[in-house]
Amino acid sequence: MQVLSIETKPFPDQRPGTSGLRKKVRVFQQPRYLENFVQSVFDSLSGIAGQTLVLGGDGRYYNAEALQVILRMAAGNGFGRVIIGRGGLLSTPAVSCLIRKHRAFGGIVLSASHNAAGPDEDFGIKYNIDNGGPAPENLTEQIHRHSVDIRRYLIVSHPDIDLESNGLFRLGGLVVEVVDPVADYADLMETLFDFDRIRELFASGRFRMSFDAMNAVTGPYAREILERRLGAPTGTVVRAQPLPDFGGGHPDPNLIHAHQLVEMMNGSWPADFAAASDGDGDRNMILGPGFYINPGDSLAVLAANAHRVPGYAKGLVGVARSMPTSAAVDRVAEHLSIPCYETPTGWKFFGNLLDAGRITLCGEESFGTGSNHIREKDGLWAVLFWLNLLAVRRVPAEAIVRQHWAQFGRNFFTRHDYEGLDSAQAEQMLDRLRKRLAKLPGEQAAGQTIQYADDFSYTDPVDGSVATGQGLRIGFESGDRIVYRLSGTGTEGATLRVYMERFVDDTSQHDRTAQTALAELITGAERVVGIEASTGRSRPDVVT
Ligand code: G1P
Ligand code: ZN
Repeated sequence: MQVLSIETKPFPDQRPGTSGLRKKVRVFQQPRYLENFVQSVFDSLSGIAGQTLVLGGDGRYYNAEALQVILRMAAGNGFGRVIIGRGGLLSTPAVSCLIRKHRAFGGIVLSASHNAAGPDEDFGIKYNIDNGGPAPENLTEQIHRHSVDIRRYLIVSHPDIDLESNGLFRLGGLVVEVVDPVADYADLMETLFDFDRIRELFASGRFRMSFDAMNAVTGPYAREILERRLGAPTGTVVRAQPLPDFGGGHPDPNLIHAHQLVEMMNGSWPADFAAASDGDGDRNMILGPGFYINPGDSLAVLAANAHRVPGYAKGLVGVARSMPTSAAVDRVAEHLSIPCYETPTGWKFFGNLLDAGRITLCGEESFGTGSNHIREKDGLWAVLFWLNLLAVRRVPAEAIVRQHWAQFGRNFFTRHDYEGLDSAQAEQMLDRLRKRLAKLPGEQAAGQTIQYADDFSYTDPVDGSVATGQGLRIGFESGDRIVYRLSGTGTEGATLRVYMERFVDDTSQHDRTAQTALAELITGAERVVGIEASTGRSRPDVVT
């Protein structure tokens, strides 16, 4: 089959962000836009001839068209085999699992994660390397460099391949293998968790769970694992059908976007346990009746209880969290005498630590939790971890968390997001603060004294690479903390994220809500940077 070299011109805006390249669907639909980026990825890799690529997406609008283009380009660029999920579906954790299991060269995930989908919404493309994890910064920078120099892309001419049933197809020299998107991933989960105990929990008839797949990719995974393999009643998984527009919803498992589940859990007939996942299946939200579990607390609880779960019974070698995430897990690490690493935002920074065997568990405040079983965060994995704990401890999730706070103290945490800001205004606002940082220590804010103020930078302890400009931190003598950073995953304007945290040891204070306990810091965070004066916004769009 003849490989066509098609002439093209660069697009200036193809720099991957926190998690791959994310743009409006209409941007991706411009002629040559997708092709340019995919070719820039392939041109950044060496030795792809004859290699295996894993490919799939979260089922969102434009996935189907993009998958066919990528298949033809994989053939044009000399890959030997593409493993693709049936229906073009693969969750982000499943891509990571398949790359590792089949020793693939890498993988491509088509998703914009928790961002909405549809013709006027978002699309994204992310390359993962052979460890199953997101491409590290040096590779994403190379991809960007190729994208601004690109002159041609390589493709073969071939009709669309039928992805609706398992099977093998030939596309010139390329073998396309359409596989069950769920099986390998579900098998991996069985090696980590005590499925017998969880099955008993469901069989007891005294435990009702609700899992909200938000009409995104985790529906088929949750059905297979929870309802088929673990025997949870049919209907445990709601909104299980992946839809190209996610049913018009916003598949972000948080208090705002998963509000149906939250209302059910706060209502008169809550389930005993509820969870939700995001568009591509790597995020999780965990709820008990009338009780929300902050992701930072969730990570800390999992770390403290890991010895009760078969896959982690040997203990943890270390843990890691992203810088803005609460320090709850740090206290557990101290208790276990294991190292705790603080990385910049984004899963790619955990990869080296996991590969080097320095950490077993890691997580982010943005509803991401994971372990060394793959190299991505993993929504269903976190849910199964919780189910395993509930099955073993036989107490409600809330009791597990409250006992945890009683033992370790509580890290009150909140994140306030201001979305769709004017990018220049938002950047100038943070630039002004950045210039004042050095003078802040010793000054008063939020009714207390500032101890340190800096722009977070990270030196990777494994390869020595340095990431700078990762968020402005203001730390107080009391240990309280405010962090400001701009999102790297948005597609329109800028999103300002403000993170606030306070540690409280006194158990009698643990019943307060985060917004009340953090009220002073919230006001202080506004005053320090002047959000309203700079952006005109008097309140955040999303509070988690
Ligand atoms: C957000 C989260 C970050 C997460 C990323 C991908 O990135 O804050 O923790 O890794 O999505 O899911 P941000 O938009 O803040 O750059
Ligand atoms: Zn995601």
